[in-house]
This record gives sequence, C-alpha cells and structure tokens, in this order.
Amino acid sequence: MSVPATSTSVASTPAATPFLPKLARIVAAEQFTPKEKWFRVVPHDGRPLAHPPMSFVQVSVFGVGEAPISVCSSPTREQAFELCVRAVGSVTNAMHQLGVGDTLGIRGPFGNGFDPSAHKGKDFLFVAGGLGLAPARSLIQYVLDRRQDYGKVTILVGARTPGDLLFQGDIQEWVSRPDVQTLVTVDRPAEGWKGNVGVITTLFKKIKINPAATLAVIIGPPIMFKYAVLEALSCGIPENRCICSLERRMKCGLGWCGHCQIRGTYVCKEGPVFTYEQVKRLREGI
Ligand SMILES: Cc1cc2nc3c(=O)[nH]c(=O)nc-3n(C[C@H](O)[C@H](O)[C@H](O)COP(=O)(O)OP(=O)(O)OC[C@H]3O[C@@H](n4cnc5c(N)ncnc54)[C@H](O)[C@@H]3O)c2cc1C
Ligand code: FES
Repeated sequence: MSVPATSTSVASTPAATPFLPKLARIVAAEQFTPKEKWFRVVPHDGRPLAHPPMSFVQVSVFGVGEAPISVCSSPTREQAFELCVRAVGSVTNAMHQLGVGDTLGIRGPFGNGFDPSAHKGKDFLFVAGGLGLAPARSLIQYVLDRRQDYGKVTILVGARTPGDLLFQGDIQEWVSRPDVQTLVTVDRPAEGWKGNVGVITTLFKKIKINPAATLAVIIGPPIMFKYAVLEALSCGIPENRCICSLERRMKCGLGWCGHCQIRGTYVCKEGPVFTYEQVKRLREGI
C-alpha cells in the first residue's frame, strides 16, 4: 500500500491573497518548559482554519517577522487551533513574549499534511521525540476523536528529561485511556520519575504491532528519526508506511520562492509530510 502523503487534496483552499496574514487572537497560553510555549488561537474572522493534521501555518509577529509552525491541534477541534513554539530566534522569542489577548498574523494552512480519512481501519504507531510531539499531536487527536474508524493505536513519547516532556496533560489522558497504549521514556530521569529510562527505541520491545496493518508516524530530531525508522522497518513496517515530517527554512510557504527546496522538491508544498521511501531518495532530506 502506498501512502498518498504528498496529496494536495487535503490542503484547504488558499486565501485569495496568500501573502496577507489573517489576524488571530491568543485566547490561552502556557509556558510548557523554559524553551517551549503553547498557544490557543482564534482567527478574528471566526472561520475555522480547516487544516489537515500535520500541516503548518506561517505565524507572524508584527514588526519582527514570520516563521513556519505546525498546527498541533486536530481539525476535529475546530473552534480554535493550537501552536507549540520553541524559542530559538527572533520570531519564536518574540512569540514567547505574547500572551492572552495579543494578536498574531496567520497565513495558511500550508503543506500537504496527512489525510487520515484515507487510512480508515489501519493501526497507528506514533513515535514522537521532543518537539516532534507537536505535529504528531494533531494526528493523534484526530485519530482519537474518530477512534471507531481506526484499529490499534500505540503512542511512544520520548524526551530528554521529565521536565522536557511537552503536552503532559494530553499524555496523562492517553495513558489513562484503555483503547490506546501509551509509553513514555526519558533519557535522563529526575528525582521521583518512576517511568521508563532510555532512548525512545527501547520502547519498541514493550509493544506488539501488526506490521501488515500499521502506519508508523515518526517525528523527532534527526538522530531519533534515523534509529526509530530502523526499528519500525525491523518490525516489518514497509518504508512507504513510515511517515515523517521534514523541516526546512521557509519564506513563502506556497512553492514560489524556492527557499525550502531539496533537489527540486518543495518541502512547503509537497511536504512537510513524506514517507520514508520518499525521504530516502532526497539526499540531505533528514
Ligand atoms: C514545516 C515546519 C514546521 C515547524 N513547526 C514548528 C513547531 O511546531 N514549533 C516550533 O517551535 N518550531 C517549528 N518549526 C521550526 C521553526 O519554524 C523555526 O524554529 C523558526 O522558523 C525559527 O524562526 P526564528 O525567527 O525564531 O529564528 P531565526 O532568528 O530565523 O533563527 C534562529 C536559529 O534557528 C535556526 N533556524 C531557523 N529556522 C530553522 C528551521 N526551519 N530549521 C532549523 N533551524 C532553523 C537558524 O539557523 C538560527 O540558528 C517548524 C519548521 C517547519 C519548516
Ligand atoms: S517556502 Fe517558498 S517555495 Fe517553499
């Protein structure tokens, strides 16, 4: 089975003026860690973002600039959408200064995203390391909101330390659900941590999957991705059912400027979601 990860059919219709940001108001915010902050955002025009899971928006902080950020909530929860931002530079640090009531600019949604409706009945194995849980969460929420449409759901989450774990409220909820298997691990435990210790690949020996029915969604830092894909492949999941999300420097988000190009592939438009089979052919992809 091949996964139509690059289908553009799941992306919503672009706005008439795709370079003009829509205004959106921050209605909730939480500092998850010193580096990562979560925001819930509502467009001023009240229209849902209508994004496919694992797509992204170009977020602007006025007077500072624009940055691509994954929508970390599912389109099934459409009254608002959510972002989780790691402060690394000018735009992301400026976003960390914002809070409830502040206004952002939003362009998009952009990217192919992932169309879960094309995979009804399948099992899902999510392997999310660090900030990779942000794009993965949009699809996890979608699958859990349509739980009856999918088979077995397994979620593996890894972080460097317990304090680095993002979306801790969600993780607790997933762990308590009988219809989902959720395992969490940290590289370095802190006092009081009673969970798994070790890199995320060590969790594979604790799960049982049916490779013939499973889609593996693997998102995290490049080193994690490399070893997690090897584990998924060794479980028998084929390359065209290992799904990942690529990050590249972006400007337009529309396939026009070429900033995100890898050997003729426009990550902003043809991606960011690719199968491992596709990524393998893009040298420098990961
Ligand atoms: C499709 C996509 C989805 C993303 N989703 C998220 C998300 O959900 N949350 C999040 O926090 N970040 C996400 N990012 C990364 C985010 O876009 C960058 O961290 C952001 O653009 C940095 O902007 P800045 O102005 O704060 O940093 P700058 O001032 O531009 O740069 C600061 C430093 O970060 C480096 N940098 C900038 N952009 C990137 C990049 N794209 N990849 C690697 N290094 C970069 C620069 O080289 C520099 O060292 C995503 C990127 C892409 C392409
Ligand atoms: S960001 Fe401009 S072509 Fe991809």
